[in-house]
Amino acid sequence: MSVNITVLPGDGIGQEIVREALKVLDVLNRGFDLKAEWEEAAIGGDGYDRAGDPYPEETRKLAHASDAVLLGAVGGAKWEGLAKPLRPEAGLLGIRADLGLFANYRPAKVYDQLLEASTLKPEVVQGVDILVVRELVSGVYFGQPRGIVQEGGQRRGINTMSYTESEVERIARTAFAAARLRSNRVCSVDKANVLEVSELWRETVIRIKETEFPDVELTHMYVDNAAMQLIRNPKQFDVMVTGNLFGDILSDEASMLTGSIGMLPSASIGDKYAMYEPIHGSAPDIAGQNKANPLATILSVAMMLRYSLDQAGLADKVEAAVEAVLDDGLRTPDLAGGSKVVSCSGMGDAVCEKLQVMAG
Ligand code: IPM
Ligand code: MG
Repeated sequence: MSVNITVLPGDGIGQEIVREALKVLDVLNRGFDLKAEWEEAAIGGDGYDRAGDPYPEETRKLAHASDAVLLGAVGGAKWEGLAKPLRPEAGLLGIRADLGLFANYRPAKVYDQLLEASTLKPEVVQGVDILVVRELVSGVYFGQPRGIVQEGGQRRGINTMSYTESEVERIARTAFAAARLRSNRVCSVDKANVLEVSELWRETVIRIKETEFPDVELTHMYVDNAAMQLIRNPKQFDVMVTGNLFGDILSDEASMLTGSIGMLPSASIGDKYAMYEPIHGSAPDIAGQNKANPLATILSVAMMLRYSLDQAGLADKVEAAVEAVLDDGLRTPDLAGGSKVVSCSGMGDAVCEKLQVMAG
């Protein structure tokens, strides 16, 4: 039985990194009988340019009809002047909300091969293996009221951080279930000393633990402290569960433990749909130069194989192939440090070669 993937390269380096990820899928089709089929569609600035909409209707239909979505990145200076609903980011937030992708898994794993690539001391980051579980379709990103209003002689900008109990319950369950497959520890990050929304968040997380996951260890941390602890002693963390904005910020911070934001994949999962994307942006400064690190996207393909396509064995193989090219000393410029510097396509080819060898 074949599987259908909607592929949304998007903007900037999104185009080049997704191309490498598709090469990997191609090798899996030929060497391991995967039977993946895909169709490309537009999102972000690319969606605006081609269809006047950062989340075009055609893309929406395709995504709804597929087994999984693979996304590159969105955004760029070219579209910054547009009205908010037409900007690339509106397309990304649009598809996340439309597909109900409330749970965003962002694993930050430090590879021994890249210890030197981190700006932190090797002994601080060696062995770090954190899973940030970020709530993705609510919180201050989506809360109402929002906007910029006239008030007296000046304007006021407004956003609302809001969570309902059921929104917290489902992300808490996601985090506890994930922890059971790891070392059974969850740290919930909030700002309950100041924000009511965090007070409700914390109470709800505690209730779900006590009633449904009594075996999982739960701790709580204020977000400012969590930001500090992540660089002071990152190995204390296993699963971190947090809201949309805090998760956005902390996952970028966690990526720096690994040496490069170009290494972090993600999975965004809802009740019906799932989307896979690197956590980094469209990097307009290096777009089109064949310099980007495709590994976060290739590792996102591994997550897709594991969580959406029921191919855990192939996911293991893709991850092993990534480790093998790192063992060989291959590095894109974001990771370089006295090793073999390769291009984006060079890195993709190297991963494919490893997979081909495994296929025999
Ligand atoms: C991410 C990105 C997005 C976000 C932007 C591009 C809207 O930073 O996926 O982390 O803030 O969620
Ligand atoms: Mg971000």
